[in-house]
Amino acid sequence: MTSFTIEIDGRPVQARPGDTVLELARGQGIDIPTLCHDPRLEPAGCCRSCLVEIEGQRRLQPACTWKATPGLKVSTRSERIERHRRVLMSLYLADHPVDADGRPPESPDGNALRHLTEGMPLLDLDRIDSPRAGRPDDDNPYIRFDPARCILCARCTRYCDEVEAVNAIALTERGGATTIGTIGMTGLLHTSCELCGGCIDTCPTGALSEKKNADLDLAAAEVTRTTCNFCGVGCQVDLHVLDGRVVRVTSPPPGTTVNDGNLCVKGRFAFDFIHSEDRLTEPLVRGEDGRLHPTTWQDAIEKTAAGLLGVKRRHGPGSLGFISSSRCTGEENYLVQKLARAAFGTNDCHQCAAT
Ligand code: SF4
Ligand code: SF4
Ligand code: FES
Repeated sequence: MTSFTIEIDGRPVQARPGDTVLELARGQGIDIPTLCHDPRLEPAGCCRSCLVEIEGQRRLQPACTWKATPGLKVSTRSERIERHRRVLMSLYLADHPVDADGRPPESPDGNALRHLTEGMPLLDLDRIDSPRAGRPDDDNPYIRFDPARCILCARCTRYCDEVEAVNAIALTERGGATTIGTIGMTGLLHTSCELCGGCIDTCPTGALSEKKNADLDLAAAEVTRTTCNFCGVGCQVDLHVLDGRVVRVTSPPPGTTVNDGNLCVKGRFAFDFIHSEDRLTEPLVRGEDGRLHPTTWQDAIEKTAAGLLGVKRRHGPGSLGFISSSRCTGEENYLVQKLARAAFGTNDCHQCAAT
């Protein structure tokens, strides 16, 4: 079937089979609140914050899972929807930690619950004590889980399954005790977790957060976008810089850069090397005393070339091998093989990612 027309808030909207009401509404600049939605994941429809009115449907329906069909008529604003959102948010907050202003606390990535309840007249409900278990003895170095701030949207577990294909975490227990667990409620280091941190990134409330530098004022950091240099994939990263030091690395939002909001453990967490005292800052050449001495790039390159040419002269080009790195760009890897073949006459060149 080719495209067809539906109606959202009285506006005709072109749709294709498979489009959801949420995608189509957002494409028109119509704001529908969401909590469990992440464009990288299959829609789950579990948080109920995106409910809208669909003509012919008795109940409100989730915009994130409802697929467009020809002639569909949708209302995203009405008294009924407002009432639903007010009751829903009030219920969410009934067992959620709140600040003195009665709103959920901020987190470095923002708290969607706080954002959604801003300016909303909430119901005065009794507070509930949900017995959700955490993993206080989880000694993994990077990821903290605060069960009180979890709204059970399952974004973290679905991300771990659908994007990482790791399944280290899952919804466990029942009813009010439902929580995010691991097998045997062990720490993440005892599971298949790859410490990619994607679950932190997708969590809308800060229930999952970074342990590293959590005591710093991360909100005050200046953010600079750059390319991760751990490998040649070219993931874009946002460096959070406080007082001249990188204190956190996050991914740009999904759908904006090549890595689609994802990072690996190295890209996200292994940034301490940037300020290491042991980093090389100038070329070193081994002297006759057997020790390394600082020198200029010109001298280092000339000595390297002379050494390689000497080996070639004495033992032939087959005695030389060139190994490049997946941390280099494609262009740099091309140049290494060109150097091997054109300058030294050997085809013995390899790259670590090829093994
Ligand atoms: S860090 Fe990555 S692999 Fe580990 S639980 Fe979170 S999403 Fe899964
Ligand atoms: S930890 Fe965060 S992402 Fe996971 S279910 Fe709870 S609120 Fe959702
Ligand atoms: S965003 Fe639609 S139900 Fe959660």
